[in-house]
Amino acid sequence: MAGQIPTQFIDELLARIDIVDVIDARVALKKAGKNLHACCPFHNEKTPSFTVSQEKQFYHCFGCGAHGTAIGFLMEYDQLSFPEAIQELADQVGMQVPTTQQASLSPAKQNLYDLMDKVGRYYVHQLHNHPQRQPFQDYLQRRGLSAATIEAFGLGMAPDGWDNVLRTFGSDQPTTKQLLDGGLLIKNDQGRTYDRFRNRIMFPIRDRRGRVIGFGGRVLDDGTPKYLNSPETPIFHKGTELYGLYQARKANRKLERILIVEGYMDVIALAEFGISNAVATLGTSTTADHLRVLLRAAPEVVFCFDGDRAGREAAWRAAENALPMLGGNQQLKFMFLPEGEDPDSLVRKQGADVFRRRIELAQNYSDFFFETLSSQLDINSMDGRARLVEIAKPYLKHVPAGVYRDMLEQRLAELSKTNLSTLNRHLEKPVQAKPKARKTAAGSAAMTPIRMAITIVLQYPILAREVDDIRLVQSLNQPGAAILAELLETLHQHPHLTTAALLERWRDKENGAHLQKLALQPLSLSADALKHELTGIIMRLHKEAKQQRIHELTSKPFSELTEAEKAEVRSYK
Ligand code: CTP
Ligand code: MN
Repeated sequence: MAGQIPTQFIDELLARIDIVDVIDARVALKKAGKNLHACCPFHNEKTPSFTVSQEKQFYHCFGCGAHGTAIGFLMEYDQLSFPEAIQELADQVGMQVPTTQQASLSPAKQNLYDLMDKVGRYYVHQLHNHPQRQPFQDYLQRRGLSAATIEAFGLGMAPDGWDNVLRTFGSDQPTTKQLLDGGLLIKNDQGRTYDRFRNRIMFPIRDRRGRVIGFGGRVLDDGTPKYLNSPETPIFHKGTELYGLYQARKANRKLERILIVEGYMDVIALAEFGISNAVATLGTSTTADHLRVLLRAAPEVVFCFDGDRAGREAAWRAAENALPMLGGNQQLKFMFLPEGEDPDSLVRKQGADVFRRRIELAQNYSDFFFETLSSQLDINSMDGRARLVEIAKPYLKHVPAGVYRDMLEQRLAELSKTNLSTLNRHLEKPVQAKPKARKTAAGSAAMTPIRMAITIVLQYPILAREVDDIRLVQSLNQPGAAILAELLETLHQHPHLTTAALLERWRDKENGAHLQKLALQPLSLSADALKHELTGIIMRLHKEAKQQRIHELTSKPFSELTEAEKAEVRSYK
């Protein structure tokens, strides 16, 4: 994918941005000697081992090994794709990403984002200016929302009428088509086109990056449907989007926990009370895709459901979907509200502190899992316990093999009053978890001179100018010689590239990961000493290259050599 965006553009982008700004905006950095540091955002720690080098434009965590460039950081931290990370950085410095097929959005999609944004702002404008705005304003006030919260969530109003949006935005055929594509208009069987959202409070739905991708609209009274949502569109997919995630990330430097609730108003009311880490699925149950997004966004995810039967059933569906994702570093928990309450009503009645305490008391995944499974059974009887094993079996099969699965099995053995070996005869063999990545050559293998030279050049690109004859290196028949030559070549042509820019050039190449490892090798010598080290190595390599050449030439009979080769042999004498 990297190949789609010109290398030159990435070089320039990396030269213009500063990784320190990019990271500091998300994780507060402190000066520590030559570098900056912080507690690592990618694992839990109390003392900082996450360091950022301004010089190399590179970050590295000594604790968990996370490392990369500003682009890599955004991909990890903001969960962006490579082109999205590029776009994000380019936006920050006002650069235009060259349009290539894959790398940038199709114009149709881009226009759709723009249009959704405009319509969202139109709804906001109506809420503050429309002659009939009063009942809408009153409604929001009755629900206890402050102006700041209304603004933070971009709430608006769709005025009554069949064609407000159509008339305001659908001036021509292509835009009308876009309004239809974006789900803002409906076309009926008679071919008549009209506004989907009429006389409703409007909730813009934003993606992780804050772009408006859809809307929810609520009636003011008890008309039906109470909520109307955008349909699936090219940019809106209910099964992967979470309402409020953008705002939650914005409100929290680092999300330690995400609370997942059912409704728009639950997210907003909690935020109003300072609980700014709630998100909602959009009228669907929690899918595996949702869970993947959530577990990457925070180490702990707490499901918050109604205490009634529907709530318990929804919780169980979420629990089932989570099975294949259990056992990582993240925790999943469940909390149930008293019957007849939702987070909105409860936080209003009891206040934020009580609500927070309820969150703290949320049930562990395993407790909820076994409690639910055994709720229909009498586990005091042998028959009931046997049945528990039978019904747990198909679920446990989906849990990845590992400590967590072992513990669930252990628990099942305890609950069913059997022992693990008996139980294991009945459980299906676990799917073997993927082996941990083996320590690769760079980490363990000895530093050959070539590897050392690559490491130095990578970490101190400026030293590449100390080497003037690249051809000799190129001709060497040794592992790594080709990479070293390519690195030197690149730096001769582009002397100002940083470590980060070099690594980005190798992102999708075969040796990219290898180079990243070398970029992390601690080099204890001073820059000056490294310069001598490098020139020394290159001198040795030149000598070896010559010897290799002599060996090549002298292994043939002298008479078979060309005149030029004969001259070459003589010159080495
Ligand atoms: N929902 C929906 N369509 C409906 C009703 C509900 O899409 N007709 C979704 C909405 O996302 C809503 C969520 O389900 O936020 C929860 O619905 P519900 O509990 O009925 O509403 P509340 O969130 O409690 O809404 P309110 O407090 O505004 O009455
Ligand atoms: Mn409610």
